[in-house]
This record gives sequence, C-alpha cells and structure tokens, in this order.
Amino acid sequence: MSGRPSASRRTVLRGAALTPVAGLGLAACSGGSGGGTPATPTAPVVLGADSEVAKGGAQLYQDQNVVVSRAENGSLKAFSSICTHAGCAINKLEGTTLVCPCHGSEFEASTGKVLRAPATVPLHELSVEERNGKIVAGPGA
Ligand code: FES
Repeated sequence: MSGRPSASRRTVLRGAALTPVAGLGLAACSGGSGGGTPATPTAPVVLGADSEVAKGGAQLYQDQNVVVSRAENGSLKAFSSICTHAGCAINKLEGTTLVCPCHGSEFEASTGKVLRAPATVPLHELSVEERNGKIVAGPGA
C-alpha cells in the first residue's frame, strides 16, 4: 500500500474560513422586567472585579443570585444563592455564612453545604473563572 499519486493535485482556493466559534456571549443581565421568581443565571454572567473576593472570603452578588468564595490558595468557587429549601433568594452573607431570610437556613459559602435547617440540600454549584480581571460565573463559564 503506497500513498496516493499526486498527479491530480487540486489547488483549492478558499477564503480562510477559520472563524473562531463565538466565545461566550457574556450576558450583562441588565434586562428583565424586575421582580418575579429569583433565578440562578442560565448563561455566564460577569459579576464584578476579581479583587472583590479576598482569600478566605466570599461575596454575595444578589442581582445575579450567585455567591463566590475564594480559598486560601486563591481558587474560586461559585454557588447559586437561591435557597434549596423553598427557593428564596438569599440576601445576607456574614463572613462566609449565607443566611436565608425566609426560614433561617444557613449555608457555608465556600462549600455550599447546609449549616442550619430547614434546608437539607446543598446549594447548587456553578462554574466560575477569572477573565480579564473579572469574575465570570454561570453554567459553562
Ligand atoms: S426558603 Fe430558605 S429557609 Fe426556607
């Protein structure tokens, strides 16, 4: 078995068609009609500057319903801040403890784990990364 003869070499002129597949459409999420059921982002969203989350600390982004924490090694974690008990948007962060306003469930922001009932299910984890000095979180971020 040898290679093909090169007699029928074709010169194909193509416009370089290597368009990069569009990156993430970063939804700035300023739309919406306000109010309504709180929801976890369904697309990656820019939350803020990466300097907002200190090592060992956490930051609650209420508008996006996301909490981001940073471990001592600098790595980030993000969770939905929608309470897994009955779906309230958590609006309070004390240190790295999230407190639900509805029935008092508490969650650890760095792990998503339940610290206090009535919730029993951990917070839903989201992808997160730093991009150009910003924190971007959401499914597939
Ligand atoms: S909805 Fe959060 S404690 Fe019930």
